[in-house]
Amino acid sequence: MLSVPPEIHVALRSLERAALVRHAEWFAELSSTNTYAAELANQEEIPLPQLIGASRQTAGRGRGQNAWWSTDGALTFSLLFNPSDQGLPVARWSQVALVTGLAVADLLETYLPPAVVQLKWPNDVYVDGRKICGILTEVPSGRTDRLVVGIGLNVGNTLRDAPSELQASAVSLCDLLGDRCPTLGEVLEGLITRWNFWLQRLVLGEIHFPELWKTKCYLTGHRVMVSLGPETQAGICRGLDSDGMLLLETPAGVQRILAGTVRRMDASTPS
Ligand code: BTN
Repeated sequence: MLSVPPEIHVALRSLERAALVRHAEWFAELSSTNTYAAELANQEEIPLPQLIGASRQTAGRGRGQNAWWSTDGALTFSLLFNPSDQGLPVARWSQVALVTGLAVADLLETYLPPAVVQLKWPNDVYVDGRKICGILTEVPSGRTDRLVVGIGLNVGNTLRDAPSELQASAVSLCDLLGDRCPTLGEVLEGLITRWNFWLQRLVLGEIHFPELWKTKCYLTGHRVMVSLGPETQAGICRGLDSDGMLLLETPAGVQRILAGTVRRMDASTPS
């Protein structure tokens, strides 16, 4: 039977003590931490921010209709919080996914050379052209004053056992670092600490997206296809603007894209 590693409990208590989250809970198995967090969000009196993690998800969700595939050893959790309480107006909630990506990249750079860590707008983190982390931000139905940020980070789950298309397009820390791979507890603590740091910078208006994405963007300078529902647009990515929108150079001029799924046309693997 799958159990929760003791070092996860140590990390959760340490995060609570440091007041980085007000309540943290970890399950051996859940359908999806985002789904669970969205259900919790409907309770009036709950301490926030709250962290909900699971050692295994049976129905992990990705963006749109995608499933999130991961095996044991992956880090999968969600943060439930009220961004307005923290000083972030609703109009800027879409930037939370971006700073979450920055926090993940910041953490990964403590283990990997910074040059290999890249951000794929709006919410993926790549290492050497392969996806290592997906972020899913959702406003729970019925509680539009709360936000769920779900993070799936490949840590101790080797992709060697994954379906072949994933082996080519995804990677994990243990595949990259072997024996030097950190524990889930260590990664979790480091990530939440950095997430708080980047969120505070966002609230204080200290994030300059164009500059931060200049060296880290997986898409800049590449031909991309952006899809949002039935709409698709092709163009060359020209980085991010100061609101965190994607700049897409098209024959009709430079478009500012607020949301969508982006595919790099020159990448050999699906993204
Ligand atoms: C994506 O790449 O499309 C986003 C993937 C997000 C996966 C995480 S794992 C923890 C949380 N719970 C879920 O069901 N999904 C997110």
